[in-house]
Order: sequence, then C-alpha cells, then structure tokens
Amino acid sequence: MKGIVFTNFFEMVEERLGFEIVDQLIEKTELATDGAYTTIGTYDHKELLSLVGNLHQLTGAPFNDLLVAYGQYLFPKLMLIDPDMMSQFNSSFELVAAVDSIIHVEVKKLYPDAELPQFEVINRNKNELQVSYTSCRPFAYLANGLILGCAEHYNEDIAVEIEHAEAHCLISLSHSNGITSPC
Ligand code: HEM
Repeated sequence: MKGIVFTNFFEMVEERLGFEIVDQLIEKTELATDGAYTTIGTYDHKELLSLVGNLHQLTGAPFNDLLVAYGQYLFPKLMLIDPDMMSQFNSSFELVAAVDSIIHVEVKKLYPDAELPQFEVINRNKNELQVSYTSCRPFAYLANGLILGCAEHYNEDIAVEIEHAEAHCLISLSHSNGITSPC
C-alpha cells in the first residue's frame, strides 16, 4: 500500500484527535518503519489494518466506522494526485462508475506498484448505482468512505450500503433526498 495512504491517516488522526494519540498509536503498533512513511514508498497494507485496529482500541470507535471516516477524509487528498483527470467527472455516479476503467488505470501509470481493487458496475439508473468490489485486501469500508467523500465533493446526498458476498462485496449508492443524478 502506498505511503500516501499512511501519511494521510496520521494527518487525520492528528487533526481530529491530537498529536498525543498519534504518538500512542505508533508506540502501540508494530510498524516496520516506526511510523516514518514516505508518500511514494510502498508498505504492507496490514499495517494500516493494525493502525485502525489500535485506534479502535484507543478511542472505542467501531473499526468499520473508522475506515469509513478515513475514506471520507482521504478522497479530496487523492483527487489532488491528478486534478486534470478528475475534472472530467461531474457527479459521484459518473466518477464511481469510472474508478476501474479510468481513475485507477491512471493511478497505475503514475504508481506501477499500486495495489488496486476491482470495481465492476452491476447496475446503474438515475437513482441507484451498484458496483461490485473485489480485492485481496479488506477495504470495502474504505471504499464506502471514499464514495461519501466523493458525494460531498459534488454536494450530493448519497446513501451507501455494503452487502458481503462470497468473493466480493456489493456496494450500492442511492440518492437519499430524491434528487436524481444528472447522468
Ligand atoms: C469514490 C472513488 C474511489 C473509490 C471507491 C476507490 C477505492 C479504492 C480502494 C478501496 C482502495 C484500497 C485498495 C484495495 O481495496 O485493494 C484504493 C486505493 C487507492 N486509490 Fe482509489 N478509489 C477511488 C478514487 C480514487 C482517486 C480519485 C484516486 C486518485 C486520483 C485514487 C487513487 C488510489 C490510490 C493511490 C490507492 C492506493 C494504492 C496502494 O496503496 O497501492 N482512488 N482505492
């Protein structure tokens, strides 16, 4: 997992809970680098899971809620990787439907060693978008948070639901205020 995912995680924890919690988290978690991540370096994704698990222990907040909150925080930071590419999308449905075919393809060009999931559009109409998430890493709730961060970016009110299937997760987005997507 790219260092950018770790550096932003520590940034969120510091902004919201303070530097002391970051310190405690690093002390409590067995990290190959002692918490010294570089943005472009690559690290074991299990370290992020351990950090979230220990933050859950330190704060009492549910593990999946922490991953969702982090995804929401991370989305605008990821957009900064390639703002030109991102400017072609005008709604969350449009963007999420293009994660696999456009966005992560560009990410892979920039970071050839990036470990990315697969998203397949299963269903799409004006009110609902359903995608399947497949990855050997368990980050469906991170995806949930990224989608909420994306909806925030477009000022949309979107509800996200996750359904666990055998080898993948179904993620459903729906407009929660009755307003439909422009496309
Ligand atoms: C709502 C839109 C998006 C969703 C749902 C999404 C989903 C995900 C998920 C779930 C992961 C974790 C890896 C895994 O599960 O296997 C991931 C990783 C990543 N995504 Fe996306 N993503 C979105 C948008 C973006 C955007 C806009 C960018 C940048 C332009 C981006 C760049 C990355 C990068 C750099 C990683 C880390 C890869 C690594 O650590 O090796 N994503 N994405």
